[in-house]
Amino acid sequence: MRKVDIFDTTLRDGEQSAGVNLHPHEKVEIAKQLERYGVDMIEAGFPCSSEGDFQSVKQISETVKQCMIVGLARANKQDIDVAYEALKDAKNSGIHLFIATSPLHMKYKLHLTQEEVIEKAVWSVKYASHYFSHIQWSAEDATRSDWNFLSRIITNVIDAGAKVINIPDTVGYSTPQEYGELFSYLMKTVPNINKVKLSAHCHDDLGLAVANSLAAIQKGIHQVEGTINGIGERAGNASLEEIVVALRIRNDEYKVDTNIDLKQTIRTSQLVSKFTGMIVPQNKAVVGLNAFAHESGIHQDGVLKNKQTYEIIEPEMIGLGSNKMVLGKHSGSHAFKEKCKELGISLNEDEEKKLFHAFKELTSKKKEVTEDDIFALMLDSSIKEIGAGYKLELLQVSYGSNIIPTATIRVETPEGFRIQESATGKGSVEAVYNTISRILKQPSELVDYRIQSTTNGNDAIAEVYVKVRYDGHISSGRGIETDVLEASAKAYFDAVNRSLVKVWFEHQTKGVEAL
Ligand code: KIV
Ligand code: ZN
Repeated sequence: MRKVDIFDTTLRDGEQSAGVNLHPHEKVEIAKQLERYGVDMIEAGFPCSSEGDFQSVKQISETVKQCMIVGLARANKQDIDVAYEALKDAKNSGIHLFIATSPLHMKYKLHLTQEEVIEKAVWSVKYASHYFSHIQWSAEDATRSDWNFLSRIITNVIDAGAKVINIPDTVGYSTPQEYGELFSYLMKTVPNINKVKLSAHCHDDLGLAVANSLAAIQKGIHQVEGTINGIGERAGNASLEEIVVALRIRNDEYKVDTNIDLKQTIRTSQLVSKFTGMIVPQNKAVVGLNAFAHESGIHQDGVLKNKQTYEIIEPEMIGLGSNKMVLGKHSGSHAFKEKCKELGISLNEDEEKKLFHAFKELTSKKKEVTEDDIFALMLDSSIKEIGAGYKLELLQVSYGSNIIPTATIRVETPEGFRIQESATGKGSVEAVYNTISRILKQPSELVDYRIQSTTNGNDAIAEVYVKVRYDGHISSGRGIETDVLEASAKAYFDAVNRSLVKVWFEHQTKGVEAL
């Protein structure tokens, strides 16, 4: 059966989602999970864009050995040189070069003519081939480009040495029929097209990203790109998990195979959602909480009689229903370590001790500790610290129906001082956040606040996700605790600490530019 390569860009295009700021160690964790999921390529970042991206691509290159690691670069020497520096330790690496080809982008963004764009594109492919044998070339805004010009520039970059030609629907403008026809046109008009693989890359502005990707696959392309949970710029990218499940369930129609281990779908989706703070909508196809819930009586009756009446995907196929009750109060550190290994959680000795301590604390508050609980604990920023930042030491809140909510908080500052403050608010969360505002050096503002529980039941762990504007940046943060107020405080400090890390990385970027 024909095989389609899966190119994951969660850590590059996905990370471009508003307010998402992953720390390099979180990107490495996601990359390791993508490796378990079975993607063929991981686009680990845009190395020249910041020191943070450079470090992430470098660390992923050193760690992940089963997938090809790809870095994004514009058509200039510095981008390509820096991408090489970041990727040189990968077992299998590739570069992804791009330049815009639509009249709008060439005129207003690049200020270049068609001939100048061809010249730059060809030069970049030739220059990159000194470092890389795998070169993917993308025509940014391809679907709003002149088809004849596209055909011409592609012919030239293939002659220059490109191995994969990617046709992005950058602004999610295309329709399935049109996108499929564009591939058919290129297959017919580009004389050297048989020397390369063709790739689809779709955005979801009209909600057509998955449909467009599948239409391209039906036309015979070799690679499809997307992100986990469809995260990405604006309305996001094509959801990879939806594409691969559609290819499996409707294999009769698509007749293609992938290397994906579908059983890792839910774990991958959850990991990306929790690290990025982008909560998966309950009705999202495949990975939404309600994707397998049957509400109406007629449906429930049908499913009880025969699952296939209303269920086209078996939950077990994508790894649902395996959230076992794992360990309890009496479990020792050895059993705990084994469980972490089984879950793919890799920590150093110090982090392992902290996680075990958090687990022990949880067993005194919660009857059944599940795999999801352990996973949630691992995601708490106090286990793997993101750098020097504010550390919450004490939180006390007084609340009652007839008293003014008041919070007291003590922290250790990034400089190592101890500060304690109190403030009131209209509610207890507001009291906590007003107190934090007094502690912080710069003005801050809560932009978004979301809460969800890890599992069901009164004793479930609370996961709070916030977006905070601090020192001019919007940054996301998460807090994971059995108590909602403590989770809320931790989430706010986490966002502030990430903002401090981002400023630090921006400071270092000057060093990268000098490379
Ligand atoms: O959507 C797009 O055009 C991109 C390119 C950088 C490939 O992400
Ligand atoms: Zn894109």
